[in-house]
Amino acid sequence: MSQMPLVDAIKAHLSEKKQQWHTPGHGPNLPLDGSWLNWAYDLTEVGALSPTNDRTDPISQSMRRMAEIFGVKRSWYSVQGASLPVTAAILAATSRRGTSVVIERTCHRSALSALIIGGLEPHWIYPAQPFHGASPNQIIEALTPNTAALILTRPTYDGVASDIGSVVEAAHRLSVPVVVDEAHGTHWYGRQGYPTSALELGADLVAHGAHKTEPVLTQAGLLHAQGDLIAMGDVDLWWDLLSTSSPSYLLMSSLDAYQALRRDQGWTSRWEMMALQTRELWHRFSEINILQAQIEKRADGTQADPAKMTLIGNGSQIREAVERWGWAEKTEPGAVTLIFSPTGKLSVVHSMLSTLKYLAVTSAPKHLVMPKPIVQLTPREAFMHNPPVSVDLKNAVGNIAHRALVPYPPGIPLVQPGEEITEDVVNWVEAWQTLHAGFIEGLDAADGGRGGWVWVVK
Ligand SMILES: Cc1ncc(COP(=O)(O)O)c(C=O)c1O
Repeated sequence: MSQMPLVDAIKAHLSEKKQQWHTPGHGPNLPLDGSWLNWAYDLTEVGALSPTNDRTDPISQSMRRMAEIFGVKRSWYSVQGASLPVTAAILAATSRRGTSVVIERTCHRSALSALIIGGLEPHWIYPAQPFHGASPNQIIEALTPNTAALILTRPTYDGVASDIGSVVEAAHRLSVPVVVDEAHGTHWYGRQGYPTSALELGADLVAHGAHKTEPVLTQAGLLHAQGDLIAMGDVDLWWDLLSTSSPSYLLMSSLDAYQALRRDQGWTSRWEMMALQTRELWHRFSEINILQAQIEKRADGTQADPAKMTLIGNGSQIREAVERWGWAEKTEPGAVTLIFSPTGKLSVVHSMLSTLKYLAVTSAPKHLVMPKPIVQLTPREAFMHNPPVSVDLKNAVGNIAHRALVPYPPGIPLVQPGEEITEDVVNWVEAWQTLHAGFIEGLDAADGGRGGWVWVVK
């Protein structure tokens, strides 16, 4: 047996020499000076490397340079991915403003952490259609003067960005701060051919999962703040409470190298060139159902990220074809999503698409509409009930969920803590399992992958 099973598995994986159409954004061909990627640089808060109260230390200096390049008041370096930025941003935005939040159901679980910690009451907004976020009208209609914060997830996992300019304006007219989880859109800001960043649309707090698409180490993320609605001290407060006290200097060095790379016009040109070339592929392979190409044809202001390619059709069939050339980011029954980087080879994408066009991959995926939630408790109230009880799903109707039930992919919660498990929920799970036998987080396995046990409040 291997003495280092993980290391050996990574070596075996890399030996296949396939394209990396997935996170992290750096791939094997670093576009920047990587001399700091060295055991010796794995340091801690020592000597001149320590943070100082007057923020003259090198980490603060680097964060200021990051803020400058993104045109914001402050940026924070996360070594906890986009998760820490999302949680801290929501808690900072709602501090002393109240507990009622308008939030997209497509949010990541780091947003649920904030709902639980902050005792917040979510008003959920569902996606307008598969792969999309909520429509601007849906969101605007949900805002009230009592809304403590508006929490958006934009883009979706597939790089679909709804037109939120009017949404931000409507929120600001009510003095409601806007938090945007832009985890998948770090590469957009200031670049032609990509959706407009929420920073350019005036959002107050924007979280970036920099490692997802840009050349930084996995788990390196960013939070940016701008405008006058958010007190920077509130962000510092939550940031300090939620973050590790041993931040990795390697991860932060990768962010430092990134802020320098972000100033390099050559890197921006490579991104912009990639956007042009990907669009050419959309046209060249118009017989293939590519989500982003379909979105671009519409005139409703929705934008699609050309760094993502979602191939719609029979997921397992497409995946099999794709994996002859590279590894995909995500496969679901009706689609496969790839992420491209300017360091990758679009010529290989071309070859892959050439073989794919001979497959019958144009059928639309079967989509199950989720039942709307019946909220009985806030997520925090449900969470604080101890101990929860495990109940067979088929006997769970009428109970209140203690844990979220989240089908993957795409990871949109079916039930959140505090919501009732209705007959519709049970039927939905049954239909999902019949169609895909997919994984549902929060559902303890049952024999044969059908049914299962759920944790409920008693
Ligand atoms: C929309 C969204 N937000 C936040 C996160 C959390 O990012 P991270 O894994 O970097 O903590 C993810 C992770 O996939 C995500 O998809």
